Amino acid sequence: MNPRWLPWSLLASAGLLLLTALPRLPSAWREALLVAALGGMLLAIYFAHRLAHRVGAMRQQLHELNEQLESLNVELAAQQRRRLALIDGLPIPLLICDEDAMLRYVNRVALEWFGFRYITGKSLLALTFCYDLYLLMLKAARRMSTVTGEVTLSFPKERHVEVTIWYLGEADSHHLFAIALLDKSELLRLEQVRRDFVANVSHEFRTPLASIRSLAETIHDDPSMPQETRQRFLSLIIQEADRLTRIADDLLTLARVESTVPEKEVFDLEPLIQQAMQEMAAEAQRHQVHMQAELQPLKLFANRDQILQVVLNLLSNAIRYNKPNGRVIVRSYLQEDQAVIEVEDTGIGIPSEALPRIFERFYRVDKTRSRATGGTGLGLAIVKHIVEAHGGTVEVESEYRVGSTFRVRLPATIDGGASSGAAETAPA
Ligand SMILES: Nc1ncnc2c1ncn2[C@@H]1O[C@H](COP(=O)(O)OP(=O)(O)OP(=O)(O)O)[C@@H](O)[C@H]1O
Ligand SMILES: [Mg+2]
Repeated sequence: MNPRWLPWSLLASAGLLLLTALPRLPSAWREALLVAALGGMLLAIYFAHRLAHRVGAMRQQLHELNEQLESLNVELAAQQRRRLALIDGLPIPLLICDEDAMLRYVNRVALEWFGFRYITGKSLLALTFCYDLYLLMLKAARRMSTVTGEVTLSFPKERHVEVTIWYLGEADSHHLFAIALLDKSELLRLEQVRRDFVANVSHEFRTPLASIRSLAETIHDDPSMPQETRQRFLSLIIQEADRLTRIADDLLTLARVESTVPEKEVFDLEPLIQQAMQEMAAEAQRHQVHMQAELQPLKLFANRDQILQVVLNLLSNAIRYNKPNGRVIVRSYLQEDQAVIEVEDTGIGIPSEALPRIFERFYRVDKTRSRATGGTGLGLAIVKHIVEAHGGTVEVESEYRVGSTFRVRLPATIDGGASSGAAETAPA
């Protein structure tokens, strides 16, 4: 029976009770009416009980629904946090903005890129200062579809960027778009470096090849050439061929250093430097340069051959770009957990404008002088690559016409044990 009848049964009981109050009612009727009213009240109690039960059940249902809603809310908030963590963790800048190019969210990398700490109330233009990007965004908003393009950002530093903008959906009656930026500057720079390198290599090979060809042609075209001249030309051909071999060898060394992880061992630095000085002794004598050493006993965990190559290249420069009666001092010492190898000379020095370029491949301050002494312009590039492959650094101080100091810093190894400052450790 439906509890909706509760008021009716109450009303009926009340009506029956009122009827019992009639003055001339026979007592049998009054009793009958009283019994009926009692029955109506019992029915009302029954309905009230059913109603209370139903209300209780509904309250329970409501409570369960509330709990479900709460856990749904918690799950939604967790999902939102996961989504933001995903966006924040992306290694590329990602910006989310509405159709009016007002920013809604930007990830951590994007904030770092543009040097901001928050974006509240900012527009895309105010964050990036890039009108082309702003126009691309408006284009995506107009088309409501994915748009790609390339723009150059100039704030806070110049970056050549590939942009992809796509439609995300609607939120708070706004259309949202995601903007992903991909920095192509490094790629373009490397592409340029590669092109320059190929051009440089071709140029470096072409010069000796042209000399060899013209010398051979002269010998070929003149059978009656005096023996003395022929001998001179032939030795020039040999010199140029040697030069080609040196360039090829240096290029191979560079390629090997670049493409392989150095095989390391623990060794004493002092005997290695002495070995390099011995190998360069004849060259030093030829250039009338005096070499001296101030060496502290140190151990390195490194590739011995490659470190020998570093010292040889630095010594060879210090001797070849020196003055007669000049001096070269080689030092080795420990500084802040780093093994330092220092090669100081009293040579011709390097002009300050050339200093940032001397570690570039094929770069020579004075091409004629370098070539005359057999230089290929690859020595310092090899030094830099070897040192960096060992987790070290190389720096130079120089005063034009006074002298230069090259300083190599490598992670030092103490007692043949742990290699401090480096991620690796030496074998026990
Ligand atoms: N100690 C130095 N004093 C003065 N100039 C130097 C010194 N070391 C290097 N340079 C300059 O830097 C240039 C690059 O040196 P690098 O060793 O790379 O090439 P290189 O000596 O010309 O040829 P090589 O490949 O035979 O070493 C040299 O040509 C020279 O102009
Ligand atoms: Mg050199």
